[in-house]
Amino acid sequence: MSKPQDIVTKLLNNNRAWAEEVRIADPDFFERLKAQQSPEFLWIGCSDSRVPANQITGLMPGEVFVHRNVANLVPGEDMNSHSVIQYAVEALKVQHIIVCGHYGCGGVKAALHGDRLGLVDYWLTGVRELRDRESEALAAMPDDAMRHDRLCELNVIEQVRNLSNTLVVRRAWSSGQPLELHGWIYRVEDGLLHDLGMRSNSAEQAAKLCAAAREQTLKAH
Ligand code: CO
Repeated sequence: MSKPQDIVTKLLNNNRAWAEEVRIADPDFFERLKAQQSPEFLWIGCSDSRVPANQITGLMPGEVFVHRNVANLVPGEDMNSHSVIQYAVEALKVQHIIVCGHYGCGGVKAALHGDRLGLVDYWLTGVRELRDRESEALAAMPDDAMRHDRLCELNVIEQVRNLSNTLVVRRAWSSGQPLELHGWIYRVEDGLLHDLGMRSNSAEQAAKLCAAAREQTLKAH
């Protein structure tokens, strides 16, 4: 009698089946990837298991360079995200950086409520500061679900703004390298992405569109 498959073995078996499927559809697929990755996109998203970058955008291995952390942040002092951004822009020459948040984000919720959870509290400092800066508008919203949604959006806007101020992005723009920033938000309940309207390819445009997106978000209740 065969033993029931354990859940981790199942992943390895899934992988065999997946690789086989890809090979059948495109026999040279893996060989081509071996040579070099040349993704056009850098994705900066939340670690949340419900928001997998490749799957929700229909992209294959090799098509998107991915960085994920709790609450999709780009804090100035974070070596991890900034190393990823530098490599993506300067070595891979990605043409688009997408910051993607999601409604219902647990990190944003913890920051909104000032929950004390441990190490992640340090990580979320910037989101708590954002909450405090927007406290008047947030307090005027009818309920907590609304505050949470809006803070998820404001957080994406803030991260696009941070990104537009980084040395790496500024240097790309001033040297004429094509590079567009985008701020999106994903709704876990329906699987749909929404563009928050910050598609920008210059510092001036980013500043203008981030300010407009913030106004729009604060009006939307
Ligand atoms: Co999240």
